[in-house]
Amino acid sequence: MFPLVPHGEIRSTVRDVLAELFLDAAALCRDRSPLTHTLLVSAAEDLTRGGTTAKVMAGSECDRKGSVPGLRFASALHRLVLEGRAPTLAKHYPTVGGEPHLPTLWADALPVLDEHADELRALIASTVVQTNEPGRSAPLFGGLHTATHLAAEAAGRRTPFCVKLLEVGASGGLNLRPHRVAYRFGDTVLGDPGSPLVLDTGWTARPPVDLTHSLRLVGRAGCDLNPVDVSTEEGRLHLSSFVWADQLARWDRLQAALDLAVLDPVPVRRAAGPEWLADQLAQPERDVLTVVWHSVVWQYASPADRAMGRAILADAAARATPMAPLALLVFEPRRTHDQTRYEFQLLLKLWPGGVSLRLGAGAGHGIPFEWNTQPWA
Ligand SMILES: C[S@@+](CC[C@H](N)C(=O)[O-])C[C@H]1O[C@@H](n2cnc3c(N)ncnc32)[C@H](O)[C@@H]1O
Repeated sequence: MFPLVPHGEIRSTVRDVLAELFLDAAALCRDRSPLTHTLLVSAAEDLTRGGTTAKVMAGSECDRKGSVPGLRFASALHRLVLEGRAPTLAKHYPTVGGEPHLPTLWADALPVLDEHADELRALIASTVVQTNEPGRSAPLFGGLHTATHLAAEAAGRRTPFCVKLLEVGASGGLNLRPHRVAYRFGDTVLGDPGSPLVLDTGWTARPPVDLTHSLRLVGRAGCDLNPVDVSTEEGRLHLSSFVWADQLARWDRLQAALDLAVLDPVPVRRAAGPEWLADQLAQPERDVLTVVWHSVVWQYASPADRAMGRAILADAAARATPMAPLALLVFEPRRTHDQTRYEFQLLLKLWPGGVSLRLGAGAGHGIPFEWNTQPWA
């Protein structure tokens, strides 16, 4: 026989587990977003007390840690602020011109939670954490130049290849325009100097190839399990709400990338990576370098999808020729060589020929980034 546990006690235990998840999420942003950190720590305390946060999170108490309920909570509140429906809270949010005053933040959040509890509950229950970081276009840009240069060298061509760019896990597709972004490096502007999206690359060096010629993208496509349609107000609001509201540089990059997407739309298909790739890679294209790209996706893919993805790529690699080459370019967290920590590495494989390089490493959002080419075992 199991001992009988009173209902109220079970409820509070479940809430305590959820409060722990809120504190885990708070720890993620402690050094980078004091606003989100304070909000989540206060919400965790409120949860354990059974306060308004418990009402807002009702039904989501048993959500998986990986679904990051705390960030969904913060994003739902941010969304109300962005929609102009939480004026008392808005004064703390830099994304709408406010300035955080952390000692009074929670007192100003509570009436908003109370007033919009039902709506927030429904939103949090139906939302998945979804981001798209345009800063990752900077390592992509350098990586594409390196790949087109090496593929041309291997094929004995004097001019770099045109590129067909295939992105797995593209989210809103904001990194599908690497040739239409301006990249500041010292006094130089690379890429498209007229672009609304200007990235301060923070590069300490540059890749050892000519970055001044134009990248010619003759095909671009992306897929995602949960694509965001950035041509709609809803899609833009969705991605915007997941930016931590006191990270203004990141916010500005996202808004500029959304503006660029309006000028140059590229739809993202709803599909799992492997099936979509199999379709896209069915026919090698002559005189084109086909590049499969993914950034911060691998950790979210299921073991089955990873295995299938590898097999599909190996199959396509076996069909690649010097005049129809294939590249895999990824920006993903990996353990450092000495195994002591994780870093975000840019890795390149090229077929035929089997070139395999670690091109460099940088911050998770792609900026800053340090170029330093080494073999990738
Ligand atoms: C952290 S986001 C990164 C988005 C984008 N690559 C970027 O760098 O901004 C991870 C994305 O991968 C997608 N994803 C995860 N597993 C996937 C799969 N098996 N096939 C396609 N997309 C997947 C998620 O839906 C999510 O949009």
